[in-house]
Amino acid sequence: CLWVRGHRQKKSPPGPFPWPLLGNAMQLGQLPHLTFCKMAQIYGNVFKIKLGARDIVVLNGERTIRQALVKHSAEFAGRPNFSSFKIVSGGKSMAFGSYSDLWKAHKKIAHSTLRAFSTLNTESTRLFEQHVAAEVEDLIQVFLQLSSGGEYFDPYHKFTVAIANVICALCFGKRYSHDDHEFKALVGRNDKFGQTVGAGSLVDVLPWLLSFPNPVRSLYQSFKDLNIEFFDFVKDKVSQHRETYNPEVTRDMSDAFIGIIDHGVGAGEVLGKEYVEGTVTDLLGAGQDTNSTALTWVILLLIKYPQVQKKLQEEIDRVVGLDRMPTSEDRARLPYVQAFIYEVFRFSSFVPLTIPHSTTSDVIIDGFYIPRDTIVFVNQWSVNHDVDKWTNPDQFQPERFLDENGQLNKDLIYGVMIFSVGRRRCIGEQLSMLQLFLFTSILLHQCSFHSDPKEVLTMDCISGLALKPQPYGVSVKARRLATSKTL
Ligand code: HEM
Repeated sequence: CLWVRGHRQKKSPPGPFPWPLLGNAMQLGQLPHLTFCKMAQIYGNVFKIKLGARDIVVLNGERTIRQALVKHSAEFAGRPNFSSFKIVSGGKSMAFGSYSDLWKAHKKIAHSTLRAFSTLNTESTRLFEQHVAAEVEDLIQVFLQLSSGGEYFDPYHKFTVAIANVICALCFGKRYSHDDHEFKALVGRNDKFGQTVGAGSLVDVLPWLLSFPNPVRSLYQSFKDLNIEFFDFVKDKVSQHRETYNPEVTRDMSDAFIGIIDHGVGAGEVLGKEYVEGTVTDLLGAGQDTNSTALTWVILLLIKYPQVQKKLQEEIDRVVGLDRMPTSEDRARLPYVQAFIYEVFRFSSFVPLTIPHSTTSDVIIDGFYIPRDTIVFVNQWSVNHDVDKWTNPDQFQPERFLDENGQLNKDLIYGVMIFSVGRRRCIGEQLSMLQLFLFTSILLHQCSFHSDPKEVLTMDCISGLALKPQPYGVSVKARRLATSKTL
């Protein structure tokens, strides 16, 4: 503890004893968010650990997290100066970049462009919806083929291609086949990304691990390779766009960014040209792993709880009927589908810790002094599984989000934290909510999903920035002959 003028004590957050060299690295376990929940019971919602030589403050619980990220939003808006963060998106990442005036302009441009191509108004929503519906219809054919003869398959890799295709269509006006090996290889290694940049990854806090052969070093090498490969893929597409750019016609988001950044429309002039590639890479990367992981949880929970699946199908059949597909306009009339999606978010909390933050100046939270440039981990899981807030938080119960009239309880859904809050809040929230609604409702309208009776389904996870379920098998059956397309 330090002393300042007027003898007011600057109280440092409590925390476990840090061992020399490693600090508390060996205590994190396979699922650090669960370890942090246990530590919060001992030390309180704000506590300090050490990873290697770095001090890290961990924030838990809704009140404390909102107090920090919303009330003191600028003070908590930094990112740590990790070397892995500098590799992302050719060093021009907004998501992993430090907080500055340039960053504010960058985030504004990325957010407003993404909205303009997805959920800004009726027209953009309609176009976005067409892309999504086409992907789901294609995916259904792939699923049915894989299930022919009663086979079981793991849906995760199929979801990565479908989701990457939606964002590729927005960024480049182009989609890829499920059989395209190059594309599959490009999008199929997302887990290596999340395992390196997720809170609790050791490479940035124990850099000496890179000096001798070990699993952390090989993971880091894969991380570097995949970032370079991904960035080169985007560079190539953006340069084709520059060659054929016509200011009169904005074909897709790459054109929009070229217009704003290269041609200095509005706030774009403060960013250099290479930010076009950086921004497109960010959006392509950020949207993929999260949404395909979400869908992998959706299917797992549908087959784990067949009575929930049946209730969802009953609601969809009653509201949508049999002669058209569900659309975004059905959203408000499908409260159980929405409750199900919120419960998937809350129960799985599949982004349990946000991307690490850092403090941009000295700040006091819950009476504890946190100096500038401290790394901050934000435990979203602790909010979604808080026993004081949720009844039986470890049980999967979509009904918890419905009121006595069967309508969505807005106060309760506000209490689910998965897109973070404050200045670093995710910019893909509206797009993802619509996309997940469309995937879930169209898949359930058209198909039913079945587990392998020989397999015991577990809720065990593979750790990373996004928590993935352990691979599982599903078999898909068509509920009816393909409905005519009405979109
Ligand atoms: C950041 C969650 C989908 C773009 C984040 C963060 C979380 C998150 C937790 C970190 C916030 C923080 O550090 O405090 C999710 C979830 C998604 C999703 C759960 C899907 C269900 C998307 C999509 C896009 C996107 C589809 C874009 C196409 C971003 C960007 C950031 C971000 C650019 C960085 C924001 C910043 O640093 O200011 N997201 N995300 N996300 N997300 Fe998402």
